[in-house]
Amino acid sequence: MRVLMVYASAHGSTAEVADFIAAAWRGCGIETVVAAVGGAPALAGYDAYVLGSAVHNSMWLPEMAHFVRRALPQLAAKPAYLWLNCLRLLERNGYAYVTKHYLPALLDPGLTFRKIGVFAGKIDLATLRMDESWTLTFRYDGRESPARLAGDHRDWKLIRAWADGVAAELGSIT
Ligand SMILES: Cc1cc2nc3c(=O)[nH]c(=O)nc-3n(C[C@H](O)[C@H](O)[C@H](O)COP(=O)(O)O)c2cc1C
Repeated sequence: MRVLMVYASAHGSTAEVADFIAAAWRGCGIETVVAAVGGAPALAGYDAYVLGSAVHNSMWLPEMAHFVRRALPQLAAKPAYLWLNCLRLLERNGYAYVTKHYLPALLDPGLTFRKIGVFAGKIDLATLRMDESWTLTFRYDGRESPARLAGDHRDWKLIRAWADGVAAELGSIT
């Protein structure tokens, strides 16, 4: 079983989640190649694809959206999995909100994800560029002020549980 995991990360927290999941899978004997979306290798030769993206302005990072458009035929031909890293999850009814508003817009009917992980991310306001601070302030679609959501909210146990669930499924795919 050979898996390609492609991630889109603006500030590194999604990249760290990708590495964490890949390490868990390698520990189970699943060969996992991890690549930033800008440097994704050729898609041939993999048994499954996993996509992970940070959410900015209520959307996947644009690089991931472009990648999915370009790679749609290959992605749709194999088992595919997805996870998102975001802050909206932390708010009341966050899971329902995120799955309703952050998922459908970019999904193509030809592409279905066998499992979708929704994880709380990380934000360090001090590292944001001015334009990012601006869009976060004015475009964040939650009820909380994003400044109140600053911090590292990644729940590694939850991420591991999701990774284990996917690994079990991958193990049963021949
Ligand atoms: C400019 C900006 C806009 C964001 N917009 C959203 C948003 O609309 N909804 C949300 O849930 N999280 C939003 N976030 C939070 C990110 O999804 C979260 O910080 C994520 O962990 C970032 O991943 P990264 O470190 O890989 O870039 C935003 C963060 C930034 C910096």
